[in-house]
Amino acid sequence: MLRVALAALLLVACLLAVILPQVKRRLRQFHAFKTIPGPPCPSSSFWAGVTKQLHDPSTIEYREHVLTQCGRVVKLPAFLGDIQLSISDPLALSALYGKYRDAFDLPGWHSETFSVVFGPGLTAARGHQHIKQRKHLSPVFSVRYLKDMISIFNQVAQELSDTLADKASRDSEGTEVEISEYLSRFSLEAVGRTALGYSFGPINAHGTHYSRSLKEFGPTLVKLQLWRPLLPWVKCLFPSSVLRYLASVIPWHPLRHMKAISDDVYKTSRQVLRRKGELLKQGDEVMRQEIGEGKDLVSILLRQNVTGLEGERMTEDDILGQMSLLLLAATDTTSTTVARIVQLLAENQDVQETLRRELQDATVHTGRTLLDMDYDEFVRLRYLEAVVCETIRMYPAFYTGNRVSDEDAVLPLSEPIIGTDGKPIVELFIPAGTIVWINMVGSNRDTAIWGHDANEWKPERWLAPQPSSVAEAHIPSVFANLSSFAAGARSCIGYNYALTEMRMAVAHLVLQLKFTPSDKEIVWKLGGVVSPSVRGSKSTKPEFPVVISRV
Ligand code: HEM
Ligand SMILES: *[C@@H]1O[C@H](CO)[C@@H](O)[C@H](O)[C@H]1NC(C)=O
Ligand SMILES: *[C@@H]1O[C@H](CO)[C@@H](O)[C@H](O)[C@H]1NC(C)=O
Repeated sequence: MLRVALAALLLVACLLAVILPQVKRRLRQFHAFKTIPGPPCPSSSFWAGVTKQLHDPSTIEYREHVLTQCGRVVKLPAFLGDIQLSISDPLALSALYGKYRDAFDLPGWHSETFSVVFGPGLTAARGHQHIKQRKHLSPVFSVRYLKDMISIFNQVAQELSDTLADKASRDSEGTEVEISEYLSRFSLEAVGRTALGYSFGPINAHGTHYSRSLKEFGPTLVKLQLWRPLLPWVKCLFPSSVLRYLASVIPWHPLRHMKAISDDVYKTSRQVLRRKGELLKQGDEVMRQEIGEGKDLVSILLRQNVTGLEGERMTEDDILGQMSLLLLAATDTTSTTVARIVQLLAENQDVQETLRRELQDATVHTGRTLLDMDYDEFVRLRYLEAVVCETIRMYPAFYTGNRVSDEDAVLPLSEPIIGTDGKPIVELFIPAGTIVWINMVGSNRDTAIWGHDANEWKPERWLAPQPSSVAEAHIPSVFANLSSFAAGARSCIGYNYALTEMRMAVAHLVLQLKFTPSDKEIVWKLGGVVSPSVRGSKSTKPEFPVVISRV
């Protein structure tokens, strides 16, 4: 009896602890954001704000409109009076990434999900722990190691274009092929071999149990999305082991499925890692015979662990967590971007032909093949670089990133915005706990920065000197003044890796194949990343039919 009463009391206390701060935060947001302009939305409601329209998975049109056409700061009414803020102002974002770097981090529930499903990895780690992990991992992603991996990337990219060439007819009519599955398999195989030293099998096969589990993480997460913000509270009540037990007994399919995914990935990653550990002991010669030729990220980490200083060692669980995260972070992002490039090339035949000519000049016309080329030679293909840069500018794999501050913050603005009362707003006061959207696509398409044609896809802009407004804007960025890989403490650690992989995939594809649009209309949907599908289709998987013929 006493126990029940105590439990009830604890529950009430927990509920109050949850609700009161929520109410307080909403009141502070209401005052702070009173005159900040919001997006046009006739059907905005008090209960859900504009979240329904913004998160509509069937299309990203509304989100794209809000993020690129409604100014650098947009007020986004969310659940029950909560207010979120989308920001693309470069000075405000510099302060968020710089001066306030310790305050703004991923929302807690986002980190917690990764922590519960995959164990410790970069996304799960916060604060000091995160800085420490980044320090461990950053060297592994340096160009120095990437250069060693070029031959592996090259082989996988060749396998992709050979596989597609097999499906293509020789006549000029071409064959319609649904290529998104092959692009996914390519990305997974590339990261498998170069990061894990593990092969998921031939690209034209369906992969392994492991790869299917990883693929299902995103869609399953979407089904759990609504409940994820509860995770930090549930975790405050139960330890991880109890949570995992509950996930396997509660009769709710998505939750059980997530538990199964987590178990699968953990088990296989551990097998891969243990085998590597054994091989490492047998010496470098044995490693070189292996899939990653001993040059993959995990081998490098394991070697570092042997030679590293006391404080730099990583436990098995640390490395396992990073392995799962890398597989996730590296696959959909790159495959969806390559799909976008192929679509744009199919729609812009002149660009496709110019690119093919550049590739032919570097290879067939000089008696070489792409397989002979090294890292620097790929970077020097200027038109290829322009196509890749322009695509990640217009269509970053993530349109936005989320951050929450645990303290009040004042973000300066490069230019005042006009409030709804007609008065200028010169800085943003952000109450603690507010969800800020880092508006990456908005920054990439800002007409005041990139010019009046910022909303058009024009690879040529990368061949001419950029307008002075680009340098003057001081956009926080890790690559080419683009926001697509974020910036600051949590910027994309794999951006050079991603660029390398995408350059090589596109080079192999365009050299061997000609792409033209199919008669099915492609619409881009919002999932974990923005991904292609056929208009009207109900499938949750990416779909991207395109007509291919051999060059
Ligand atoms: C076109 C491809 C890619 C894009 C556009 C991209 C973009 C991003 C962005 C925007 C973030 C920050 C997310 C946030 O904190 O809100 C991020 C983080 C991350 N990315 Fe990428 N990424 C790409 C490919 C890759 C690849 C290939 C890898 C690994 C090989 C990778 C590994 C990571 C990791 C580990 C993080 C977490 C970093 C941290 O929390 O410290 N990404 N990426
Ligand atoms: C790294 O080295 C430490 C100390 O030698 C060891 O305890 C740990 O298991 C190693 N980590 C891995 C993943 O092998
Ligand atoms: C940003 O743009 C300026 C002007 O075009 C250029 O000089 C600079 O190198 C760019 N920064 C990066 C990181 O590419």
